[in-house]
Amino acid sequence: MGRKGSAAVADRLRVGLVFGGRSGEHEVSVVSARSVAGALDLNRYDIVPMAIDRAGRWADAATADRVLRSSGGRPDQVVQFEGSLGLDPRLVDRAVDVVVPILHGPFGEDGTVQGLCEMLGVPYTGCGVAASAVTMDKVLSKRLFMEAGLPTPRFEAITAAQWEAERIRCEARCLALRLPVFVKPSRMGSSVGISKVKDVTTLAPAIELALGYDDLLIVEEGIPAREIEVAVLEGNPSVASVPGEIVPGHEFYDYADKYLDDACRLLAPAPLEPAQIAQVQRLALAGFAALGCEGMARADFLLDTRNNRFLISELNSIPGFTSISMYPRLLGLSGVSYPELLDRLITLALTRRARRQRFAEAALRPLLERAR
Ligand SMILES: Nc1ncnc2c1ncn2[C@@H]1O[C@H](COP(=O)(O)OP(=O)(O)O)[C@@H](O)[C@H]1O
Ligand SMILES: [Mg+2]
Repeated sequence: MGRKGSAAVADRLRVGLVFGGRSGEHEVSVVSARSVAGALDLNRYDIVPMAIDRAGRWADAATADRVLRSSGGRPDQVVQFEGSLGLDPRLVDRAVDVVVPILHGPFGEDGTVQGLCEMLGVPYTGCGVAASAVTMDKVLSKRLFMEAGLPTPRFEAITAAQWEAERIRCEARCLALRLPVFVKPSRMGSSVGISKVKDVTTLAPAIELALGYDDLLIVEEGIPAREIEVAVLEGNPSVASVPGEIVPGHEFYDYADKYLDDACRLLAPAPLEPAQIAQVQRLALAGFAALGCEGMARADFLLDTRNNRFLISELNSIPGFTSISMYPRLLGLSGVSYPELLDRLITLALTRRARRQRFAEAALRPLLERAR
């Protein structure tokens, strides 16, 4: 699928589509990448598939190509593979013009792949290093939401060291939030390691469980709520989409709901009043700005059913991108087609790179002048 030699296609952009990865959402990532590949305008782009296996190794070009072509459109139809490379040499050699990371969770959505691209000078779509890391970290996100005056559920941050040294105090801090509380690893995703604690006897086991995934935890007051999501796409002006709604099939929107069974329903658009729609769209754009997001993010809210207030829960910098995923669906309902969305993200990636390059050159100028 590399660049063809003919003049007619010489100005096509080579798009490094990075998928798979070291996370619980490995298969979802492959399915998302297939959708992206299907939606990219082949008159303008050459697709360069780049696959990372579950252990973090990169596949050779032929394997990446085969995985993308022969996987099905559902997580259980994804071809399993093993990579043999520490890093795809096509990235180091700048054999792609732009990277589209379609990786979820740690080692992809969290600033690591973004940092790699920065080091190599390759433009990439979506949030930069810091915003990717912040959106992946629930404790940091909440602190920035609060600083921006955005309503969010009350919480306590607990480190592994604090739990070790002062268990009783940690438990007291959690209980002061009033049960039920949600105990979560700060930097995970897919609801992995999350428990709803309704009874004091299950608090310590929930904390121990979450500590198996991260040494920083967030304990949040449980809100009786509807779950509302808004897709944000940067632009002039940025788009906050029509809201969607998740109706969990389980007690909360847990891992099984997300990936294992069909009990949960996605409503797009969400049944909301016009004033509520305007309000949640405003909060989505404010959340995007508060965390320094670029390109895209899906903003997730809890609509407290006791008082009809929206609370911002989290931002996802690389949301699901399958054809039935909330992010592209909501933008579609808001008038941005899937191919248009990809064009916009790629253009933003290229303009950001050009801007950064100018800044880097400006920073070097005095040194160069002195050396003359
Ligand atoms: N404070 C809360 N109140 C009510 N439900 C919550 C709360 N926090 C999390 N949940 C439930 O748990 C799910 C996963 O939590 P979330 O913070 O979105 O983590 P993840 O990053 O894994 O998606 C949510 O979609 C929601 O169903
Ligand atoms: Mg979530």
